[in-house]
Amino acid sequence: VKMNHRYRLGYHIMAPANWINDPNGLIQYKGEYHVFYQHHPFDENWGPMHWGHVKSKDLVHWEHLPIALTPTEDYEKDGCFSGSAVDDNGVLTLIYTGNIFVDREKDIVDQSQCIATSVDGIHFTKEAANPVISKHPKEGSGHFRDPKVWRHGEYWYMVLGTRKGNTGKVILYKSKDLRQWEYLGVLAESDETLGYMWECPDFFELDGKYVLIFSPQGMEAKGDLYNNLFQTGYLIGEYDYETNKFIHGSFTELDHGHDFYAVQTLLDDKGRRIAIGWMDMWESNMPTKEDGWCGALTLPRELTLGENIEILMNPVEELTFLRELKNSVCTDKSFSGTHLVETKEDLIELKLEFDLTKTAAESVGLKIRGINQEETTLLYQIENQKLTLDCTKSGKGEDGVRRTKVESNQVLSLRVFIDRSSIEVFVNDGQATLTSRIYPKEERLGIELFTENGDAHVIDFTYWKLKDIWR
Ligand code: FRU
Repeated sequence: VKMNHRYRLGYHIMAPANWINDPNGLIQYKGEYHVFYQHHPFDENWGPMHWGHVKSKDLVHWEHLPIALTPTEDYEKDGCFSGSAVDDNGVLTLIYTGNIFVDREKDIVDQSQCIATSVDGIHFTKEAANPVISKHPKEGSGHFRDPKVWRHGEYWYMVLGTRKGNTGKVILYKSKDLRQWEYLGVLAESDETLGYMWECPDFFELDGKYVLIFSPQGMEAKGDLYNNLFQTGYLIGEYDYETNKFIHGSFTELDHGHDFYAVQTLLDDKGRRIAIGWMDMWESNMPTKEDGWCGALTLPRELTLGENIEILMNPVEELTFLRELKNSVCTDKSFSGTHLVETKEDLIELKLEFDLTKTAAESVGLKIRGINQEETTLLYQIENQKLTLDCTKSGKGEDGVRRTKVESNQVLSLRVFIDRSSIEVFVNDGQATLTSRIYPKEERLGIELFTENGDAHVIDFTYWKLKDIWR
């Protein structure tokens, strides 16, 4: 397939061509940020998984590196699946899943955990003793994958996702040397509503609490919640390294858009917990396959803990380096009806703040990338405090609407990143985010601000043309 550039993103991580899914091996190593990803280098569809690789000094400008892992050995003959990376005394060590399909039709797999090391951060050697964990514990099954490893005190710890029957689980191991692993038990598991398989776990401390992120398959949709068959979310609570007991509350969705999955994090030398997700979802339509590529990663987001013990996600501050040209549309101004901003830009960050105490309208909103054709609409209904992202006309069709409650009494603040085929919305300093791929034609441009039934008061409306890091 010849590459068509119409939807190629301007400031997101993508492979040079062909398929990608999960982010893997997020790490800061020798001062640089490394991101690996599930990749099929020879086809725009999922297939034998390799690890693609990019690195960056600032989380904004990324450089492509050679493929880090290729499935060459028997224990990984059907793919080097997702995993993580650690810095083991200067040795960059990847911990990943070797996948073998036993019976693809019946969904029977034989998965094991493997390692590969590098001293230059580019070329990796697989451990002769692979797999380092060859057999799942009795609480799991052959679906046993996506190791996330971190250091605590004298030990390395690992979480893995697994399933037993129709129960998704996260299980825990520890090790002195990354090679010999001791099984510690089940860290958390599903009840009937939380999915039959938990993928891509990550477990870390955040402002004194412990957070378990995972991506369950087969969640039951409830109203505005869990509208994807695959949906990343988290449990938050207290963890005790002595007893390995994790006491937590109920499952919370991380993002409320269509395309945010297999989220992983890293801790950097500034103490920031930074998350990146796959900016697609298994069941999403993926029109870029016609163009010779498919899949991208989200912007890096800093995680912090909110007042109600919930995760807040905000774009890392370095993303302001992308800003090229600033346009102040208005400050401290009331309007009603529609207000059109004509712009030729397709890479945009915008900031829009409404003073709700001076707003009489029933709802306020934005249309982007096309006004009456192929537009993506963001709408906030003031009385019921619902924020809706509507991508029905911009590529999502019947499943185009996503909605979440955002409690804002005084100010509604929206920070929106628009790329050629994506939108990421950050609401009220990270209280909620909505991430979706959108596919308007290249000529669909412009931004329209609107109110329904009354005036709205804008505190500030500014947008920036953003830089294309790949061109
Ligand atoms: C999640 C996932 C992982 C697996 C990988 C395979 O999207 O299914 O569980 O390791 O993708 O590409």
